[in-house]
Amino acid sequence: MSARKIWQYYRAYQWKDILAMIRNSRRPPRLCDDRFDGKLVVITGATSGIGYVTARKYASMGANLLCVNRNEQKSEALRREMEDTYGVRCDFLLADLSVLQDIHRAAHELAARETPIDVLIHNAGVYLTAQEITPDGLDRVLVVHHLSSFIINYLLMEKLKAQDKGRIILVSSEGHRFAAWGLNLDDMNWKKRRYTGLRSYGAAKTSQLLSMLVFAEHFRGSGVTINAVHPGAVKTDTGQENGPLYRWWKKTFFDPTLKTTDISAEALYYCGVSKELDGVAGRFFNLTTEEKPAPPARDLDLARALWQKSLTLSGLQSGTSEKRASNSNPVTA
Ligand SMILES: NC(=O)c1ccc[n+]([C@@H]2O[C@H](COP(=O)([O-])OP(=O)(O)OC[C@H]3O[C@@H](n4cnc5c(N)ncnc54)[C@H](OP(=O)(O)O)[C@@H]3O)[C@@H](O)[C@H]2O)c1
Repeated sequence: MSARKIWQYYRAYQWKDILAMIRNSRRPPRLCDDRFDGKLVVITGATSGIGYVTARKYASMGANLLCVNRNEQKSEALRREMEDTYGVRCDFLLADLSVLQDIHRAAHELAARETPIDVLIHNAGVYLTAQEITPDGLDRVLVVHHLSSFIINYLLMEKLKAQDKGRIILVSSEGHRFAAWGLNLDDMNWKKRRYTGLRSYGAAKTSQLLSMLVFAEHFRGSGVTINAVHPGAVKTDTGQENGPLYRWWKKTFFDPTLKTTDISAEALYYCGVSKELDGVAGRFFNLTTEEKPAPPARDLDLARALWQKSLTLSGLQSGTSEKRASNSNPVTA
């Protein structure tokens, strides 16, 4: 990180923004009572935590679901529960969203569907205290949070624009603030710097927020919007892939301070459906309150440079997307 950038961010940090974040975190989400009958909602990572309760909320309001999950058994159970309880349709695509080939395949399959996507929620996420490198040689946290949503949005751009409407929601996090001094585009995989769970999570969430700024430009005037939502600090299964010490610490000290996931579902429903957000794009919401993200996540120059980097890392630049997608057997249900 150059001294110029650090100085730029340092000057942009303001106490009033931090205080606003603390205030906003105490506010309940605004509610939306409008039904969503017959609309199609795509959710990634709907098999547990925030994704699961959000899927349930949309289904309870009449929406059909198409979930992008990695676990077949959990997806089948989800499908049965949603269809039996709410009488909606609940399909799923199986994809490991840390594997580029799976992400490309899922994106191509979504793009090929004739039904319009009314709301697309990028929710799947992971928090890893020790670094994991994917089969593509990439940081797993970066791929699941940023590159998966980047590739899917990029490959769905034409379809969504042709629909003339649609909302994309990135399930973001106040944790993006852990990338306090921005990103290092020359070391997105933490080969030259010390990896920590918080640093990699912060960088991945900041990357996702920066991509939102550029996608919002691409979608301008098309009727399609993209926004990011911090879903609250809520009790979920997150972090279960880490070691016993971390899990003990989380269960004993962190979980008791967390809220229930109902607030996340309400916020993600409001941001996907409420007419009050018609035409609103490129914003960050703490639940349903608009908030300024940290300075690095508002850096448009960085966003444009990251866009190029993401095209390369995700194999979109080299035009290999369709090849990647067709190299694997589609698993859909
Ligand atoms: N919990 C919080 O307080 C909090 C705060 C801010 C932001 N968030 C964000 O909220 C989102 C959901 O997190 P959560 O707290 O609900 O965690 P969670 O309970 O662990 O749920 C994560 C979901 O993502 C799926 N997933 C993880 N890795 C995947 C992969 N490689 N491919 C496909 N799906 C994958 C999981 O699938 P499996 O069921 O198969 O594991 C699960 O459905 C994340 O983006 C997280 O960063 C959470």
